[in-house]
Amino acid sequence: MAAAAWVFVMVLAIIVITCSNASIHDLRPRPGFGGHLVDCLSWRLAVETNNLRNWTLVPQSCENYVGNYMLGKQYSRDCKAVANAALEYAGSLNLTGDAKDIWVFDIDETTLSNLPYYARADVQFGALPYNNTKFNEWVAEGTAPAIPSIRYLYKKLLSLGIKNVFLSGTNARFKEVRVANLHKAGYHSWEKLILKGEEDKGLSAVAYKSKRRTELVKQGYKIVGNIGDQWSDLLGDNAGSRTFKVPDPMYYIG
Ligand SMILES: *[C@@H]1O[C@H](CO)[C@@H](O)[C@H](O)[C@H]1NC(C)=O
Ligand SMILES: *[C@@H]1O[C@H](CO)[C@@H](O)[C@H](O)[C@H]1NC(C)=O
Ligand SMILES: *[C@@H]1O[C@H](CO)[C@@H](O)[C@H](O)[C@H]1NC(C)=O
Ligand SMILES: [Mg+2]
Repeated sequence: MAAAAWVFVMVLAIIVITCSNASIHDLRPRPGFGGHLVDCLSWRLAVETNNLRNWTLVPQSCENYVGNYMLGKQYSRDCKAVANAALEYAGSLNLTGDAKDIWVFDIDETTLSNLPYYARADVQFGALPYNNTKFNEWVAEGTAPAIPSIRYLYKKLLSLGIKNVFLSGTNARFKEVRVANLHKAGYHSWEKLILKGEEDKGLSAVAYKSKRRTELVKQGYKIVGNIGDQWSDLLGDNAGSRTFKVPDPMYYIG
């Protein structure tokens, strides 16, 4: 009896040691980001919390990690968690009922997803340098899908009597194709669609979005909520009574 128990313990110990070695190996940081070792989950956390700023590329060693995150279940779960938090907040609001309550939505990677573009072999989820010409060709196709949980939020806000405003850094020359794309993706009504015009040229993302939000407030609107995938959507003047950050480990806009 004692011998059998001893054998059992030994076998268990061997299994435990084998498994923990395997997981230590899996979790070992992989080299490749400016010569530093990168743990991709830590990198993503640093990105989402805005501890890491002005980064230009996804570390090459994290391309697979970011790809798996974006295409797997976790990204959509994380978006859903953001949308649920926003809905819980919106439901708790004491709305004025004067039709001046608005919610600001960023477009790219918030309202619409460019994942079909970012998953391409010549983009590699942001591990290869950004090519403006190529990205604009994709925008001009007007086929970006919705992020379903954010579209759900958009519809629920409408039913609560909150009006939605799209505020995007996209150049105003894409207005027609963006409107068509929004319709195709299931977004059918909005109070305003604000795109970057000539007068916004040279402004940083934070300065541009602050300026446009301040205009909204001067027009008498109350920004009860603001949602975006970039910190530059959520920082600056008149950011809104509350802000919500959608995950985006593929690019950074300062
Ligand atoms: C990031 O870029 C912005 C705008 O160019 C600059 O103001 C800021 O200091 C930079 N931050 C870091 C941490 O380098
Ligand atoms: C909601 O706002 C109205 C008008 O300001 C106020 O009279 C009322 O007490 C508020 N209700 C709650 C639950 O805060
Ligand atoms: C950017 O993309 C365009 C269109 O595909 C291509 O012609 C150009 O060579 C690319 N530029 C760079 C620097 O890769
Ligand atoms: Mg965006």
